[in-house]
Amino acid sequence: MNRTHIIQKILDKKSARNYLEIGVNDARNFFRTRVRKKVAVDPKFRIPGKQKIKWLLKNFSNLTARYHETTSDDYFSNREPSDVFDVVFIDGLHTHEQSLKDVTNALDSMNDSGVVVLHDCNPPHEGAAVPAQDFNRVAAAASPDWTGEWCGDVWKTICTLRSQRHDLRVFVLDCDYGIGVVTRGEPDGRLHLDADDISRMTYQDLAGNRQELLGLKNENYLYEFLESL
Ligand SMILES: C[S@@+](CC[C@H](N)C(=O)[O-])C[C@H]1O[C@@H](n2cnc3c(N)ncnc32)[C@H](O)[C@@H]1O
Repeated sequence: MNRTHIIQKILDKKSARNYLEIGVNDARNFFRTRVRKKVAVDPKFRIPGKQKIKWLLKNFSNLTARYHETTSDDYFSNREPSDVFDVVFIDGLHTHEQSLKDVTNALDSMNDSGVVVLHDCNPPHEGAAVPAQDFNRVAAAASPDWTGEWCGDVWKTICTLRSQRHDLRVFVLDCDYGIGVVTRGEPDGRLHLDADDISRMTYQDLAGNRQELLGLKNENYLYEFLESL
């Protein structure tokens, strides 16, 4: 199971009309997502021309999509009031600070039943969990056996939400580098960590306790979640 499949299942179950993706890159996920209105945000799109034409023709929402070549912060501060979303997929800058801001802003840009999906919540090894401001810096500092996978410390955003937001249900599906799901509602399990605890935590802390820190669920939990929507 991967992010594209999970996002589409949520969109379909909610009969969603409005979708926002933060961090789009070559749009391999964005173009495949079928929904009436789509908005893409990335400070630097990397969409090859031929690929774009192929996908534009594949479904109507690709033709009507809107593209904002800017950061998520800039997009959210200047968001048009009519941009209210049913599902927001966050896959931009992979830092704790930015992904937490993106989740908070996403929640403010959706109705009460909106769903936030957050990529890269479960780095598979220490090399993929390096906190840095961009991919190039991670690559420059990487060891020779680094595989190019980068999740950063987005996992700390899950810890923060599970500790501080008693109004949110937050869990992570154990597939595709960890797919976080955030909705308004009763938390299923809470952490008792403050901001300093979370900032001090290392990859070893995560590796020793993924289940509890992330609220990690088998990927098939998606179907139980969909039933609850
Ligand atoms: C991992 S890629 C996104 C992949 C895409 N969502 C997918 O599923 O295939 C991360 C993207 O985030 C973008 N990005 C970096 N900083 C950002 C920011 N502050 N706001 C929005 N996007 C950002 C990068 O330019 C990059 O294209």
